[in-house]
Amino acid sequence: MFPERFLWGAATSSHQVEGRNTNNDWWLWEKQGRTKEPSGEAVRHFELFDEDFRLAAALHHNAHRFSIEWSRIESQEGVFDDQAIQHYREVVQSLRRKSLEPIVTLHHFTNPLWFYEKGGWLHKEAPGWFARYAAKMAEELGKDVVYWITVNEPLVLVYHSYLTGLWPPGKKSAAQSWQVTRNLIQAHKAAYQVIHEVYRRNSWPAIKVSIAKNLRPFQVCPKTNNWMCRLSVFLRHRLFNLYFLEKIREQMDFIGANYYEREIVSNDKALAYGPFGGKCNTAHGHDDHVNILGWGSSPEGLYESLLWLKKYGKPVLIAENGTCEEDDTYRLQFIKTHLEQLERAIGGGVPVIGYLYWSLLDNFEWHHGFGPRFGLIEVDYSNFKRTPRPSARQFGEICKNNRL
Ligand code: BGC
Repeated sequence: MFPERFLWGAATSSHQVEGRNTNNDWWLWEKQGRTKEPSGEAVRHFELFDEDFRLAAALHHNAHRFSIEWSRIESQEGVFDDQAIQHYREVVQSLRRKSLEPIVTLHHFTNPLWFYEKGGWLHKEAPGWFARYAAKMAEELGKDVVYWITVNEPLVLVYHSYLTGLWPPGKKSAAQSWQVTRNLIQAHKAAYQVIHEVYRRNSWPAIKVSIAKNLRPFQVCPKTNNWMCRLSVFLRHRLFNLYFLEKIREQMDFIGANYYEREIVSNDKALAYGPFGGKCNTAHGHDDHVNILGWGSSPEGLYESLLWLKKYGKPVLIAENGTCEEDDTYRLQFIKTHLEQLERAIGGGVPVIGYLYWSLLDNFEWHHGFGPRFGLIEVDYSNFKRTPRPSARQFGEICKNNRL
């Protein structure tokens, strides 16, 4: 049995589902041929959101996480687009009408082109620009929204955009990664403050602001279990899992936690990788089943990660957890085994308030294109028809009964 009023639902992000987000850095990146395929129409959620939420409600969800596309709201610097704002107002109202609690993300990896061209997250004014947009959205939507997530997975953004170079702007620089990390911390803090100010000024009641933090237990590969590898695991954990949370611990009203997998660390090529080690060569075979992206399933890792959060004494919302599978039975198995570990963590004293599966719909999986299907609801890309998968129905029963 999960706690009363537990939030059950799924998550999406604007660029992955809406379609035709022509004014952001990802669209440009796609045009430059840097992704497997372009996002194009995505799954036309921009037009079909009401129908999608109807499906979510029929699957007994009572919450839904989505993101606002900053590049639609502020397509030119400092100029806010009323029509775009109206669109997201309708999105929130559509959710409310169906008794789905809106959980609103302000930044999910994409940036307006003007922001990108000015230097993006490297620019010293980036936190201020972000806070101006956050304040505007709080003012416009705040009356109907309790849960805000400022930035989705800040360190995943840093990692892919400034270290591996796989995402725009395609940089590979440790110094820039550090600078962007600092700016993202400042951006969250500034947004946290202005959102709270807007609520105070309007005398709106409860509000909860956080980030969505990707959590990933690192483990030593048994084949390279030496002091160097143990040091890599320690450093990765401190930096990737805890650093950001420590910096914003006074500016989070709850903790949004995204969990997908653990990571086995090896130092096979220690000198090449440096003190952080490298992701273990899959030939070492740590998992029986891996998903389409090669990720193993490690439900105990969710339990472990949740225990790290206990010391913050804040409510925890699982803001993403999911898998992409050809065979839907693995999806159901994934959900159930992770929910078992979630219950275990709740039993162990972690105040978890909800679970959002990633994702409601099949969607555009960034540089991988549309191949990996994470959706509870299958999308036929030839006609955009939606079909809930069997796992969606089974998950729906869990949501309805509030028990596994
Ligand atoms: C991101 C999503 C992404 C998912 C699966 C998360 O880290 O927030 O945008 O689709 O992982 O890769």
